[in-house]
Amino acid sequence: MMFLLLIVFCLFKASTSLSLHGDTTAEYGGDAHYKCALSNSTGVLQVTWQRFVKGTVENMATYSERFGTDVNIAYRGKVLVTKESFSPSAIKLTNLTWEDESCLVCAFNIFPGGSKRSQICLKVQGISQVNTMHHAKQDGEVVFSCSATGKPAPTIAWNLSDGATIADQPQIVTVKNSDHTFNTSSNITVKVPPDWSGHAACVLNRGKIGEREERIAFSSSASADKDDKSGTEPSPSAIALICITIIVCCIAVAVYVIKRRSRKHNQREGSGCMHA
Ligand SMILES: *[C@@H]1O[C@H](CO)[C@@H](O)[C@H](O)[C@H]1NC(C)=O
Ligand SMILES: *[C@@H]1O[C@H](CO)[C@@H](O)[C@H](O)[C@H]1NC(C)=O
Ligand SMILES: *[C@@H]1O[C@H](CO)[C@@H](O)[C@H](O)[C@H]1NC(C)=O
Ligand SMILES: *[C@@H]1O[C@H](CO)[C@@H](O)[C@H](O)[C@H]1NC(C)=O
Ligand SMILES: *[C@@H]1O[C@H](CO)[C@@H](O)[C@H](O)[C@H]1NC(C)=O
Repeated sequence: MMFLLLIVFCLFKASTSLSLHGDTTAEYGGDAHYKCALSNSTGVLQVTWQRFVKGTVENMATYSERFGTDVNIAYRGKVLVTKESFSPSAIKLTNLTWEDESCLVCAFNIFPGGSKRSQICLKVQGISQVNTMHHAKQDGEVVFSCSATGKPAPTIAWNLSDGATIADQPQIVTVKNSDHTFNTSSNITVKVPPDWSGHAACVLNRGKIGEREERIAFSSSASADKDDKSGTEPSPSAIALICITIIVCCIAVAVYVIKRRSRKHNQREGSGCMHA
């Protein structure tokens, strides 16, 4: 029995094992956490966190008792060493984007005996962008549009506030982008009573990672609403007003300059007369 225990102990001692734990899936815009430890950290000189980028290995951060923590310039603000030790070493990837989807490596340099490493792969999911708009049609109908970029393909559902009714089934279109994300867009045509004000809520990824709701407000009484919609670009009348203002200013400046010049001219001529 003692003999067996001894063998087990020796085996255990001989094979220091490395454990790497962390997120294999995380939400776009969120954080991912990783923890790496050795069963026996005796003789460890340094821990290095790396990741694979397009087939090459990049160092993200290192920690050693001698030199402390060093985060590679390219990863400052992205990678945070949250535990500065060997048992465990921990990091956090912040503000995740699609580019952060990769495999991470945790490597310990041990003296003597070289290094021990392990890897874990991260998938980023969720929604990176949402665009919404609406436009009123003549016959008391409003078309609400919602489009989202995400991975996997975002889902879109609609929730209308009271009084509005669906005039036409929502259309949903999904296209794939070159960066392996998807754009899903949906339009819903809604019939609204006169003088209605309310919203259509675009519900994205219901019950899934990245779930959110974007409310698109609409008010049929406010005719200014139509101008609101195209609020990003100035209306023709606004452009005309700006042009007129600029022209008037130019004329005023020109008149002022001409008057000043002719006054100076007169003064010079005047003094010339005096001499003569
Ligand atoms: C760790 O390893 C060192 C030498 O490699 C050994 O002396 C020590 O007993 C080990 N500690 C444990 C808890 O196994
Ligand atoms: C997160 O990343 C985005 C895009 O790179 C950037 O615009 C934003 O400011 C970042 N947010 C934080 C809190 O770092
Ligand atoms: C729709 O919105 C109402 C409130 O505006 C909310 O109570 C309800 O739960 C929503 N329904 C769905 C299916 O999201
Ligand atoms: C997907 O949406 C983004 C953001 O709105 C846009 O820049 C991109 O061109 C869209 N892709 C396709 C294939 O329509
Ligand atoms: C939704 O409406 C917009 C603008 O009216 C249009 O450009 C787009 O193609 C429509 N999308 C779908 C899925 O019908």
